[in-house]
Amino acid sequence: MSNQPRVLSGIQPTGESMQLGNYLGAVRNWVQMQDGFDAYYCVVDLHAITLDPPEPAALRQRTRIVAAQLLAAGLDPDRCALFVQSHVPEHPQLSWVLECLTGFGEASRMTQFKDKSAKAGVDRQGVGLFTYPILQAADILLYQADQVPIGEDQRQHLELTRNLAQRFNARYGQTFVVPEAYIPKGAAKILDLQDPTAKMSKSRPEAGTVYLSDEPAVITKKVRRAVTDTDGEIRYDPERKPGLSNLLAIHAAFTDAGIDSVEKEFSGQGYGALKNAVAESVIAFAQPFAARSRELLDDPAELDRILAKGAERARALASVTMADAYAKVGFLPAVVG
Ligand code: TYM
Repeated sequence: MSNQPRVLSGIQPTGESMQLGNYLGAVRNWVQMQDGFDAYYCVVDLHAITLDPPEPAALRQRTRIVAAQLLAAGLDPDRCALFVQSHVPEHPQLSWVLECLTGFGEASRMTQFKDKSAKAGVDRQGVGLFTYPILQAADILLYQADQVPIGEDQRQHLELTRNLAQRFNARYGQTFVVPEAYIPKGAAKILDLQDPTAKMSKSRPEAGTVYLSDEPAVITKKVRRAVTDTDGEIRYDPERKPGLSNLLAIHAAFTDAGIDSVEKEFSGQGYGALKNAVAESVIAFAQPFAARSRELLDDPAELDRILAKGAERARALASVTMADAYAKVGFLPAVVG
């Protein structure tokens, strides 16, 4: 087993493609962290049925789509374990134990739960939406992850994960590594292009969200219509100029430049010039990415083989942590034979 520090992260198979925020906030770091870390990355299909469960065929297809896109983004099955959460039954098994350690009030304070349940009314939501962050904690703790590359919106879930690890360790003895969030600067929260007070998300209207599968003309249109401000000055100021600062952050991320150097480059120019450059830098990434994703999706048997190999590696690790945690809790070991 590797003695490098370990990294784990997950992404939901919602929609027909990942959006720009998923890539810049998280997946780009997953790719980089294959070097120097023992890396585990998970398509969290169990999480994807907590809100508006998709048709079964759609869920299967979306799971393969996300897997193909992660590979197209640069994950290499020889340098990481890429797997599907439902292929590793230890996730919900550990989640049960962690649920029993979580306070009702503590889970009720999760802002994602509050936001998502507010839409339809809390009494009409499934309990799975409530316990969602605890399953996420199990995803992370099973692998003894040191680092968890995520966007800003997952910070509170990671804090809960740390609290649960410490609580379990305090009650039952040292069992889990207490993980750290790995949140990028600049791209931690990519904003909706139409409403720069909200994060970009698959659950928001199409015009504000750039999907990495969007055609170049669609990307150009969305970026050119991005809401900015009227003072006409190109300056990075997320408080006062969130829309413009978001465009600068996206351009900086895709061109591997610092935000201040992008700010300097465009200073004195019109917003139109910046928007054209942003559209170009997004397309330069998205076009080959989309083509590679389609190629991978054209061979579902090969994709399934990669995911099966990833699940095998994941289970080898998860089952050891699970057995240890169950024994510590005091569950009687099942005797084989
Ligand atoms: P999900 O599927 O919503 O998003 C996947 C990753 O993308 C990041 N992200 C963003 N980053 C910057 N700007 C945005 N606008 C933006 N939108 C999304 C998210 O922060 C996330 O890192 N609960 C998780 C999935 C999960 C998980 C885990 C993550 C389940 N188990 C274990 C880490 C570890 C979620 O719904 O992410």
